[in-house]
Amino acid sequence: MKKDVIIACDFSSAEKTYEFLDKFTEEKPFVKIGMELFYAEGPQIVREIKKRGHKIFLDLKLHDIPNTVKKAMAVLSGLDVDICNLHAGGGIDMMKAAVEGLTREDGTRPLLIAVTQLTSIDQTRMENELLIEKPLEEVVMSYASNAKKAGLDGVVCSPLEAGKVHEVCGDDFLTVTPGIRFADGAVGDQQRVTTPKKAREIGSDFIVVGRPITAAEDPVAAYRHCMNDFAD
Ligand code: C5P
Repeated sequence: MKKDVIIACDFSSAEKTYEFLDKFTEEKPFVKIGMELFYAEGPQIVREIKKRGHKIFLDLKLHDIPNTVKKAMAVLSGLDVDICNLHAGGGIDMMKAAVEGLTREDGTRPLLIAVTQLTSIDQTRMENELLIEKPLEEVVMSYASNAKKAGLDGVVCSPLEAGKVHEVCGDDFLTVTPGIRFADGAVGDQQRVTTPKKAREIGSDFIVVGRPITAAEDPVAAYRHCMNDFAD
């Protein structure tokens, strides 16, 4: 799998998103569309960005009973996205149903990756609120193994966990990692961050980069900086 940079398009409207994407006249970056933009603009935003020639990671993190997730995934597959995701906490049967729903009649399907534990959940919250009394890393690796068993292609994880995920689930199991910052950049609300270069060394397959590109004075230069340091 070719290593690539995915830009998190965390904008509130189609207008703001197109204004941003129009700055890229020479390249067509892989983009991530999240809940905010999807709920604001609906599936049309996906069709339009696809039509403009971008690959799309649709980050909607599905989590429901298997039958509901299967049917929802079939709809997302019809939108011709390249990657979509769900919560591994929904269980192995839910993940298997998602793969079935995504698979088109010709056998093709978008890549499907799982969120293990959200990075906003720390050890204390996991123990006190979710009543899971195991080390967080063990839980993350166990959820990643479940995703692999269910036939998924990889996980969203911290770049610092990417090497361990590959050890547990194999080199071909994808690690898609947010939490990326330039060495001289602001960290903001991200806790455990690393640079594009370091993420590559640790073994990330895709880095998801939002504000270091979207809020940069020159977003195209910031994107190229990421691509130079990370991509193939
Ligand atoms: O702006 P920034 O680079 O922090 O954006 C990272 C993107 O990755 C955001 O869209 C954020 O929601 C997403 N994300 C994350 N951490 C996770 C899962 C997703 O930062 N564990």
